[in-house]
Amino acid sequence: MKKRYFCKRLNETLNFDALKVFYCCATRTGPSIDVPEPKNVKDIIKKRNSIIKMLDKGKIPEECKDCFDLREKENSKPLFLSYFDKMPKANLIIVKHFKQCDCSCIYCCEQYLSKRKIVLKSKKSDYYDLFPIIEELYKQDIIDKKELDVHFQGGNVSVLDEFEPLVDIFIKNGVKRIEIATNGIKYLPKIAQIANKTFVDVNISIDSGSRETFKKIKTVDKFDDVIENLKQYVKLPILLRLKYILVRGVNDNIEELTKYIELMHKIGITNSELMIDQCDNEFISEGEFKIPDYYYDLFKFYKDKCKEYNIQANIWEYIKEILDKGSFFK
Ligand SMILES: C[S@@+](CC[C@H](N)C(=O)[O-])C[C@H]1O[C@@H](n2cnc3c(N)ncnc32)[C@H](O)[C@@H]1O
Ligand code: SF4
Ligand code: SF4
Repeated sequence: MKKRYFCKRLNETLNFDALKVFYCCATRTGPSIDVPEPKNVKDIIKKRNSIIKMLDKGKIPEECKDCFDLREKENSKPLFLSYFDKMPKANLIIVKHFKQCDCSCIYCCEQYLSKRKIVLKSKKSDYYDLFPIIEELYKQDIIDKKELDVHFQGGNVSVLDEFEPLVDIFIKNGVKRIEIATNGIKYLPKIAQIANKTFVDVNISIDSGSRETFKKIKTVDKFDDVIENLKQYVKLPILLRLKYILVRGVNDNIEELTKYIELMHKIGITNSELMIDQCDNEFISEGEFKIPDYYYDLFKFYKDKCKEYNIQANIWEYIKEILDKGSFFK
């Protein structure tokens, strides 16, 4: 029986990054293509199909080696035969073709491109305009309209001039779900405008429970602004999540985590995430990212304390896998 491989992410995702379009999500550097001119958007799909076929034939591209999303199946016939009768459509679009931000988190994976410059006014992406590409993807019927999930990452959308037009074109075409990751420093009125039009998931990276720690991590003194905005967002019919990335030596302690959880309780936020800093160089030995022992206590504390307050304590599947293994290859 022939060994064949497949990846669900590859079949679904168009991840628009600054220099390339990737075929999977932000957590790794998977296969990609140079950003095409809008009229050539079909090239993105052609290349993706060739990777799907390659995996189906039992060959693994260099970028997919050791990836825990790769699945193996023994099958005599190709797994994806039916996919090539028609053009496969994208149902997950990730928007991160811009890196400008109105703060500069010390942990931020994207800062090597934005060179830690803080941008206060909306501007164009330094790389390319995404709107004409999305318009063309819709025109050429490459997007699965009914199933489309859009994730805004970046950079911070509060300083992207295309943010509102992009949201509008997705809404006009009946998007199923929009997820917006933001630092929460600037209130985004668009969120209230679309709250009743689709499922809206707003994920705010606050990484602290106090003004002093926020300032150390975000490098701007805007904690109070975030709190005011959270009080507005919590009233909307959206999924509001608060996020905390453990940054070694800054917020990786029980006291700050307690303040963070108590803050959510006070504002009425019922959904939260705890993450590790995946760009922490000090953890890396020979390319391996080692998890310190006390992190396991912090994760346990977080789960127990959230339970006490009826807050959903989310830990991503891939973070669980990293914790189970005790290390992570970058
Ligand atoms: C680069 S940010 C852009 C969106 C928005 N500015 C924000 O901070 O949420 C996208 C996501 O990547 C996460 N992120 C950035 N640097 C990270 C790191 N070193 N480790 C883990 N997650 C990171 C952020 O928390 C955020 O949820
Ligand atoms: S196998 Fe991994 S690296 Fe390859 S496309 Fe899938 S998620 Fe990306
Ligand atoms: S708010 Fe987001 S984009 Fe801005 S520096 Fe922090 S993690 Fe990076």
